[in-house]
Amino acid sequence: MIEQETKKVMLKAGQKCSICTCGNSKNLPYCDETHRTVNEEKGTSYKSLKIWPQEDITLELFSKNWKS
Ligand code: FES
Repeated sequence: MIEQETKKVMLKAGQKCSICTCGNSKNLPYCDETHRTVNEEKGTSYKSLKIWPQEDITLELFSKNWKS
């Protein structure tokens, strides 16, 4: 059992998905490319996490970088 507030993502087989790792996306848990601006302003090197499931899948995701 996961204690943190998670975000549910349901993906179809072969459906590409980019997950935000920086916590600045306006569309969490998905990456909206805001990390590019953050990296330029703060000198960080955030990149999204890419997922390509081989079968239909439901994920419960959590990052400490995501503001609740
Ligand atoms: S917006 Fe956060 S990793 Fe892209």
